[in-house]
Amino acid sequence: MAWTALCKVSDLSEGEGRFVESGDHQIALFLIDGQVHAVQDTCPHAGASLSSGFVEDGCVVCSWHYWAFKLSDGTMASGGRAKLRVYSTRIVGEGPDAVVEADI
Ligand code: FES
Repeated sequence: MAWTALCKVSDLSEGEGRFVESGDHQIALFLIDGQVHAVQDTCPHAGASLSSGFVEDGCVVCSWHYWAFKLSDGTMASGGRAKLRVYSTRIVGEGPDAVVEADI
């Protein structure tokens, strides 16, 4: 695993998902209260892109069948067994050029 640059912080919009790809990893990024969360983009239910889902109560909700996953640890809000891969993130630099990195 290594810290890998994904995009600029200024590419993200508060509360909205953004899809990024790095090598074999397809990742959904979310900016919530100034913190960047990164989870696998592919919904484990039937493969929807979670970056096109919506955020509610700290969860990403899949736009296809509304399964909700906690952005903090990838577990299902309902207590179901499916789980997302969660990537650690950090912001490097400051201002408009600050970069989002994930441990991939
Ligand atoms: S594909 Fe995501 S809930 Fe069904």
